[in-house]
Amino acid sequence: ESVARSDFLIPANVHAERVVSVRHYTDRLFSFRVTRPQSFRFRSGEFVMIGLPNAEKPVFRAYSIASPAWDDELEFFSIKVPDGPLTQHLQRIQPGDTVLLRQKATGTLVVDALTPAKRLFMISTGTGIAPFASLVRDPDTYEKFDEIIVTHTCRDHAELAYGVELFENLEADPLIGELTAGRVTLYSTTTREITPRMGRITRLIETGRFHQDLGIAPLSPETDRVMICGSMHMLKDVKELVEGLGFREGSLSQPADFVVERAFVG
Ligand code: A2P
Repeated sequence: ESVARSDFLIPANVHAERVVSVRHYTDRLFSFRVTRPQSFRFRSGEFVMIGLPNAEKPVFRAYSIASPAWDDELEFFSIKVPDGPLTQHLQRIQPGDTVLLRQKATGTLVVDALTPAKRLFMISTGTGIAPFASLVRDPDTYEKFDEIIVTHTCRDHAELAYGVELFENLEADPLIGELTAGRVTLYSTTTREITPRMGRITRLIETGRFHQDLGIAPLSPETDRVMICGSMHMLKDVKELVEGLGFREGSLSQPADFVVERAFVG
């Protein structure tokens, strides 16, 4: 049972939502917000399949929800791939356009898959910061952890803007700003454009530069938990790094020390 809308059919069991706003950061990155269906529930850090009503069989891709679970809109942060099956069209959306959402959100980057600890490290590259944009705006995260450290590594300085703005807005937010003040830190680095803070996060952790820059104790499973989101190679390397430090991978059925989002594309 499909409903005819625009030129194509909207499949059954899919939400058709309206684009509220779009922001372009670079020729490779943009973010957008859509209306949230009343029945749509998710945990901060999860992803949902999204598509466009521009084909008889819409292409769906996994997108981490960047807004927190309490928000009445849904925010996403996306790459633009010139010939990408979805993003070649998605990058052209305008306010008022329709975006399709599948009904179920899921994912491994949820605080319930980790045991409590003092510090939570969220390690990201590129659009992998999206689930962490959700989690740093969720009061539940601060109930389980005293300190949150988000790392974001991109090729160029301009690609870091989404995260920098997120943190500026967090501090200014009358609701959550008070809770997060002094407890959440953004550590941004570039790997190609020359900036004061450069390097892959794996290398910065291994050399000790990361801990020196922040003036914090080194990563340890005794005090810390880790969430990882980014490109495939980065996931593998950071997973190996933390496993080498004694961290064990957790899940909802067996919460432990770190989690990795493998559904993520970017
Ligand atoms: P690099 O420039 O050295 O490849 P991309 O834009 O290709 O998705 O990459 C996003 C960021 O992730 C880049 O800064 C990139 O660094 C970094 N990166 C890529 N692979 C790894 C890896 N295996 N470990 C850590 N960082 C990585």
